[in-house]
Amino acid sequence: ASVAALDDSVPSPNRTQNRQGPPTPAPPVFTNTPDTDPSLPQNREWGRRILERVPSSKLGIDTVRAHTLSSEDDLERVLVDANAAGRVWGARSGAERARILEQVADVLEARRADLLEVMAAEGGKTLDQSDPEVSEAIDFARYYAERARALDEIDGARFVPSTLTVVTPPWNFPVAIPAGSTLGALASGSAVVLKPATLTARCGSVLAEAMWDAGVPRDVLHLVHADERSLGTKLVSDPRVDRVVLTGAYETAELFRSLRPGMRLLAETSGKNAIVVTPSADPDLAVRDVVQSAFGHAGQKCSASSLVILVGSVATSRRFRDQLVDAVRSLPVGPAHDPRTRMGPLIEPAQGKLLTALTELDDGESWLVEPRRLDKEGRLWTPGVRTGVRRGSRTHLVEFFGPVLGVMTAADLDEAIAIQNEVDYGLTAGLHSLDSDEIARWLDRVQAGNVYVNRGITGAIVRRQPFGGWKKSSVGAGFKAGGPNYLFGFGSWEPCIWDE
Ligand code: ALA
Repeated sequence: ASVAALDDSVPSPNRTQNRQGPPTPAPPVFTNTPDTDPSLPQNREWGRRILERVPSSKLGIDTVRAHTLSSEDDLERVLVDANAAGRVWGARSGAERARILEQVADVLEARRADLLEVMAAEGGKTLDQSDPEVSEAIDFARYYAERARALDEIDGARFVPSTLTVVTPPWNFPVAIPAGSTLGALASGSAVVLKPATLTARCGSVLAEAMWDAGVPRDVLHLVHADERSLGTKLVSDPRVDRVVLTGAYETAELFRSLRPGMRLLAETSGKNAIVVTPSADPDLAVRDVVQSAFGHAGQKCSASSLVILVGSVATSRRFRDQLVDAVRSLPVGPAHDPRTRMGPLIEPAQGKLLTALTELDDGESWLVEPRRLDKEGRLWTPGVRTGVRRGSRTHLVEFFGPVLGVMTAADLDEAIAIQNEVDYGLTAGLHSLDSDEIARWLDRVQAGNVYVNRGITGAIVRRQPFGGWKKSSVGAGFKAGGPNYLFGFGSWEPCIWDE
């Protein structure tokens, strides 16, 4: 019996006609900002014009100069001003702050081209990496505006925000991460001192200008550029600072904590993340997602996949490895302003453990794809893939933060999970499998804050995939960025005692 036989008043497959009464209005759903669609010729032309400006770009330079702290007096003035402004800002309603954040979202959208230009010029980011970053920053503004309004509506308790938050973001997401931390603190009612990473100072300046122009008061958001070792250290250790938001290496979080015991630190730190590929996986999708997660922004992401773990027959046959090698070899490497580039430069010449990872193998390892240095400076490297990686080795456990992928093998899914969980960090993890029992088992046991099935493991989406790690990937951060509770990390709750 067909549906038509049961109800022959329905002439077409359009089932909405079959509803009784008016449709129930759907609850309001947060809508993520779309990225620029590069399949449209006018968007490619728009991108090409941005890239042409990159080699001579001067965006943000004057603002960096204007906001560089040169003395302890400068720092003192910033701290006094920001503290006073924080008290006023925190007394405004969540709805008032939300309106300003929504204006920030609009200004960021209007300045998308400028943000892409400065991210390419200073951070070496290709458009496929930087465009989603602007969308994410806009999402943070709109979503935290929504959460700020929700703070006004909680019965029986009052949210008391911190007065002053210091935000110290990394250079690898020089727009989305400072935007998210700053806007989260602002939405909660705290004033902010934003100290962008020195390597991407201009990106931080262009971002702060957008926020001021959108209506964030200048004394509520202070931008400072300071040498980390002198005034930067004084800034984060000052007792007038209620919260410090750090996204950076685990060692930096430890250093911050040692500077001022009792500091309230919200730190997202390192990762050593793996994607597991089982025999039930779609190999084409798996290769695509591994390559994108390992080599997007030259692997310089805490969320990047630096390991792929091949299970069972995927490990024993050559097919997957051959496909992976082809895909990796076909990635064009070059400067960010060249539209043909798929993998851009390192932010600095390779050094330390990354240089070792690009040039030396551990016991039992061999190169599936050997990295090559393409420039004198040591910033442009072709991607590397090392195989024969042993459990407990450096390649298994140490974060390299660059374009090096280790291939490991496991007899079965349980062994693959054990390999994933052996690392000290627990930020992101991926599984490629089309078997629902495998997926359920893996989800139940893998130890990571962000777990992804049949998808790349970078590029968490605001509200849909709140971002935050377990184990040594997080220090003191209770609530995930881009999630419903993020603002709660910037204050405390007081019960309301109502008069009869
Ligand atoms: N939130 C960034 C990502 O998911 C780090 O890749």
